[in-house]
Amino acid sequence: MLRIHLTLIAALGAFLAPAYGLTQFIPSTIQNGTSNAQFVSTSSPLDAPKVSPINGSAYDWWYFDAVSTDPSSRASVVLTFFTSSQPAFPLLSPSPTITVARIWVSFPNGTLWSAEADAAGATVVVPDAQGSKGRTSGVWHGTGLSWSGTPAGGYVVLVDAPGIGVQGTISFEPTAPPHYPCGPVSSPVGQTLLVGPNIGWANAVPDANASVDLVVGGVPLKFGGSGYADKNWSDIPFTSRVASWYWGHARLGPYSLVWFDYLDLAGAEHVSVYLARDNKIVGASCALGSVVVRPAGNTTYPPTLGTPRPEGYRVSVELDGAETSGAGKVELELTATVTAPLVGANPAYARSMGTVTGVISGGADSEAAGKLEGVALFEQFQLTS
Ligand SMILES: *[C@@H]1O[C@H](CO)[C@@H](O)[C@H](O)[C@H]1NC(C)=O
Ligand SMILES: *[C@@H]1O[C@H](CO)[C@@H](O)[C@H](O)[C@H]1NC(C)=O
Ligand SMILES: *[C@@H]1O[C@H](CO)[C@@H](O)[C@H](O)[C@H]1NC(C)=O
Ligand SMILES: *[C@@H]1O[C@H](CO)[C@@H](O)[C@H](O)[C@H]1NC(C)=O
Ligand SMILES: *[C@@H]1O[C@H](CO)[C@@H](O)[C@H](O)[C@H]1NC(C)=O
Ligand SMILES: *[C@@H]1O[C@H](CO)[C@@H](O)[C@H](O)[C@H]1NC(C)=O
Repeated sequence: MLRIHLTLIAALGAFLAPAYGLTQFIPSTIQNGTSNAQFVSTSSPLDAPKVSPINGSAYDWWYFDAVSTDPSSRASVVLTFFTSSQPAFPLLSPSPTITVARIWVSFPNGTLWSAEADAAGATVVVPDAQGSKGRTSGVWHGTGLSWSGTPAGGYVVLVDAPGIGVQGTISFEPTAPPHYPCGPVSSPVGQTLLVGPNIGWANAVPDANASVDLVVGGVPLKFGGSGYADKNWSDIPFTSRVASWYWGHARLGPYSLVWFDYLDLAGAEHVSVYLARDNKIVGASCALGSVVVRPAGNTTYPPTLGTPRPEGYRVSVELDGAETSGAGKVELELTATVTAPLVGANPAYARSMGTVTGVISGGADSEAAGKLEGVALFEQFQLTS
């Protein structure tokens, strides 16, 4: 894996202010003191920084992915813009900086490639309170990687990083509205941003028409697919709250699905599920039982360090009338089957792409009933022994 080290710029004091109408510089080094993490929604946009400053137990990152919708292709790309201390997220490789941009690619034949670049700090510019007048943008200084956009209008990730051998653009045109862990962003203020204790999550783009146009190590990688963007954050280490988790997103027929099902260290389960169709939310919930994700194949649940990667997952969604937008009770039974790993072997982590088949029932739209097929990108963490 290639890595470029840049001169660190001296970290000058942290800022903390309402995260809108704001240019926020995030230093490349761990900051002393107490981090303030935002866990309730305000008029600040979904994609604004949520933790400040980044101390030795805090993380805040922006995540983008795209997976090909061509069933014969194994092409995908994942980008994460970290502002995360390594103690807070131990799966990061050791680095002198907390502002790291990482890119993972799979070519149509399934060959993997990845690289990371240490930034000399990051700057995130957030538009004014309404969030409608401008795009939020993030520049990871000196890496050539940046992103900008809005949940409603979509995002563009620019990659001009010859130092790590990759150049091009990835654009995301949303096909499903944003959401918070427990429901739509209908009333933006006062909603929980917690998917579980101390874990903040906001899903700016649950699904998008993604257009990938990159040159990776001299090889063109161009594809259209299902795209996704979210962000995660906390003021305490990830491993102090998570034992194992399953997350994924799928496009199947006219539907877009996001699932999330994890166990904390005490064995309690926390979930979030989101289903959209025709750029409208069918239902969303964080109630226990609204989604159940379990591994399929010769593996064990719950997974622990070193548990073999599953062949796929069974995802059972059950949204009652109160959790859907007037669609009544909706049930979806889905099987996700791994077609390709998207990261190398790791005892604690697996990310894969796959095909999905599902059957949906209920809902106001009877024409929707029946068998669905599509693609998905999903991951699991298994952090305890
Ligand atoms: C944090 O505190 C230590 C010890 O006082 C000091 O050496 C270090 O420079 C401080 N770091 C920052 C980023 O202020
Ligand atoms: C970071 O800030 C949080 C408070 O939000 C605190 O609980 C934690 O102990 C701090 N971490 C360090 C390493 O100072
Ligand atoms: C897969 O594709 C990559 C990128 O085009 C290429 O470098 C590699 O040789 C291919 N591998 C096989 C086994 O064909
Ligand atoms: C996404 O792509 C599909 C298939 O090409 C197209 O029908 C749809 O209009 C696109 N949606 C947006 C929002 O671009
Ligand atoms: C957390 O971040 C990962 C990226 O590493 C992303 O795949 C996932 O969607 C996020 N999920 C939650 C619920 O925090
Ligand atoms: C199931 O997995 C275990 C542990 O990896 C292995 O020893 C066993 O042979 C596998 N069984 C089958 C039927 O593949």
